[in-house]
Amino acid sequence: MFEKDTVCVHPTRCPRSFYGSITTPVFAAATFVHKGVDRESEYSYSRLQNPTRAALESRVAELEGGADAVAFASGMAAETTLMNIFGSSGHIIAGDDLYGGTLRMFRHIAGPAGLRFDFTDATSPGNIRSRLRPDTKAVYVETPSNPTMQVTDIAAAAEIAHSAGALLIVDNTFLSPLFQQPLALGADIVVHSGTKYLGGHNDTLAGFLVMKTPELAEKVRFYAKTVGACLAPFDCFLVERGIKTLAVRLEKQAANAEKIARFLRERPEVRKVYYIGFPDHPGYEVTKRQCSGFGGMLSLETDTPERARKILSSVKLFQYAESLGGVDSLITYPMCQTHADVPEEERLRRGINDRFLRISAGIENAADLIADLRSALEK
Ligand SMILES: Cc1ncc(COP(=O)(O)O)c(C=O)c1O
Repeated sequence: MFEKDTVCVHPTRCPRSFYGSITTPVFAAATFVHKGVDRESEYSYSRLQNPTRAALESRVAELEGGADAVAFASGMAAETTLMNIFGSSGHIIAGDDLYGGTLRMFRHIAGPAGLRFDFTDATSPGNIRSRLRPDTKAVYVETPSNPTMQVTDIAAAAEIAHSAGALLIVDNTFLSPLFQQPLALGADIVVHSGTKYLGGHNDTLAGFLVMKTPELAEKVRFYAKTVGACLAPFDCFLVERGIKTLAVRLEKQAANAEKIARFLRERPEVRKVYYIGFPDHPGYEVTKRQCSGFGGMLSLETDTPERARKILSSVKLFQYAESLGGVDSLITYPMCQTHADVPEEERLRRGINDRFLRISAGIENAADLIADLRSALEK
């Protein structure tokens, strides 16, 4: 058994050798020729499977410690396909701080299709337990959550979900399998926006579902091939290449995030910094227990809305753009972007107001990044 950073480069589960090529070739094929009648080839049609995608999927499954992983065209494609395994009735308990696109999909696709969602502050296991119902099929959380960095105790949530025969689904986008292993902590399915840390270069969209058991994997694969939102071979190649450098990128991003968080916390223009690496973060103890790093994400609340807008228009090195997890440091205004569709009252209740900004630390020099923020704050 190798450590995860070695597996990023040398997966052990992927037996395919393509003429000794050190990289997985891009199999730009929609279909594969059958060997004969009743003599199937290993691959038949790329919506079902493709050798480039198979190699990527086994790498991600190994990193997350799952029985299987399925790659999708985006994180949202993965999540939307996943909802099909619950059919057209049932109850899902979801954390109340989720990526805005996930909330939109729950409200406008899975909800009207028959699933009932109960949103709760999942940082308290008691809140999850008190919402269990006889028809609860899953508990769905992001930890840490996007964008207010709330932490859910995965082992406790798993125990509660399982006590009711429900699944625990964890979106592990923010920490990646290198810093957090939800399946080992008891989760049944891991969700990823592979667009983020796994891809790591802001050059492709991707999504993953990683299943703990072959039975769950079989269900998901049925809907994956039926819905058809699969990841194209070239994008698989890009994500596989991204994963090879995940460990070094994440280390630098986490170190940068910590320095940025400490800097911002001392600034009079900043009211609050949301960063899970601060010992006074409410989820710090759980984080120390269940994660091996604090990640590259943080959010902040400025003193005035004007200040938030000034920062966005003044930064030079930070790019004002959506997304996260890539090598470029990004700064986002969740109110206007990632969470623009969340009803205002709900958004404000969660602290996502006109002073709230989210930062994804990249791999640039920390001092340069801090100088950029300092000059934007002082403008
Ligand atoms: C935590 C989280 N999950 C899922 C998604 C959706 O992923 P994608 O943008 O790849 O569809 C995002 C996107 O920002 C996200 O931040």
